[in-house]
Amino acid sequence: MKDHSVKLTILKTLSQGGFHSGQELGESLGISRAAISKHIKGIQSWGVDIFSVQGKGYQLSQPMQLLDEAMLKSKVKTSLELVPIIDSTNQYLLDRVEQLESGSACIAEYQAKGRGRRGREWVSPFGSNLYLSIYWRLDAGMAAAMGLSLVVGVAIVEALEKLGIDGVKLKWPNDLYFEDKKLAGILVEMSGQAGAAANLVIGMGINLNMATDNQGTSQSVTENITQPWVSLSQVCDSLPNQHLAKIDRNELAATLINTLHHTLEDYEMRGMNGFVERWNRLDNFIGRKVKLIMGSREIEGISQGIDAQGAVLLETEQGIESFIGGEISLRSNEVQ
Ligand code: ATP
Ligand code: BTN
Repeated sequence: MKDHSVKLTILKTLSQGGFHSGQELGESLGISRAAISKHIKGIQSWGVDIFSVQGKGYQLSQPMQLLDEAMLKSKVKTSLELVPIIDSTNQYLLDRVEQLESGSACIAEYQAKGRGRRGREWVSPFGSNLYLSIYWRLDAGMAAAMGLSLVVGVAIVEALEKLGIDGVKLKWPNDLYFEDKKLAGILVEMSGQAGAAANLVIGMGINLNMATDNQGTSQSVTENITQPWVSLSQVCDSLPNQHLAKIDRNELAATLINTLHHTLEDYEMRGMNGFVERWNRLDNFIGRKVKLIMGSREIEGISQGIDAQGAVLLETEQGIESFIGGEISLRSNEVQ
């Protein structure tokens, strides 16, 4: 694995705030100013907005709270690894299911190959969001894994509500929305054979404070996002409880990992029992015009939430129809 320690040390210094000159950074690391400048470019390619002012040095354009492994480990109820720079936290765990205990989690500051459903990119700049995954061995096998991303989504929204963050909704099957914009995504992947126990990896990415425009030299990574999105900091800003405006990244990460862990234990015992009402209360599109996209086929109707199997219900000219499967995408069908 590539050694990123110099870049991470520079980021630790910059995250303390203020300007830091190339000379100061170089002296503390025993490298030249030119080498620092090269590392800064590398850090910018991770999506960090750094600007430089002649005679003053480098500064982060917005504050950054780094993840603290010791603090996280003291708060989570499962084994956890912080791998600051990673391809994908889901891939990292999938590659290690043979060695890991069920319940092991992984969290990163930056994903070079963060992914969504069907191989789509999950934009994962360094330090501004959360990217985490948990490995779960489900003895009941793959069929029982069907409703999992729905159950996890509901549990995460309920955990946010417990923190006073109201108004976050769900889009079937795996997205968290706020005011019709995507806040977070959940990705359930698995390895294992039909009939045998399933090795599941449940990953989630949630935007906390992703910069929209770049003041520094690096190109904004968010240009690659192909639909409206939002960060949790904006959600908090719109709440009446302004004291929530400052989210502690480590606290939230620990809460989310513990929520995932607890939800998986619960799901193993109860499955989707009594789950429909919990989902429907939070469904972003219930009662609204939507279309389901399945390859080249599109079906229009009014969304009616989900059924006990986790299928999405659509009121069409034929009556209420249910649809389930990993290849279905739900989209709003309202005139904008
Ligand atoms: P569906 O899964 O129903 O097809 P989807 O369009 O949300 O819906 P996903 O594969 O779940 O598709 O997620 C990938 C989508 O999320 C892409 O449109 C991508 O541009 C967008 N995206 C990527 N990174 C982020 C991010 N950090 N925040 C919000 N959206 C993102
Ligand atoms: C989606 O909306 O399609 C799901 C996005 C899931 C993103 C998370 S970030 C942590 C984990 N690692 C990945 O590569 N993807 C998931």
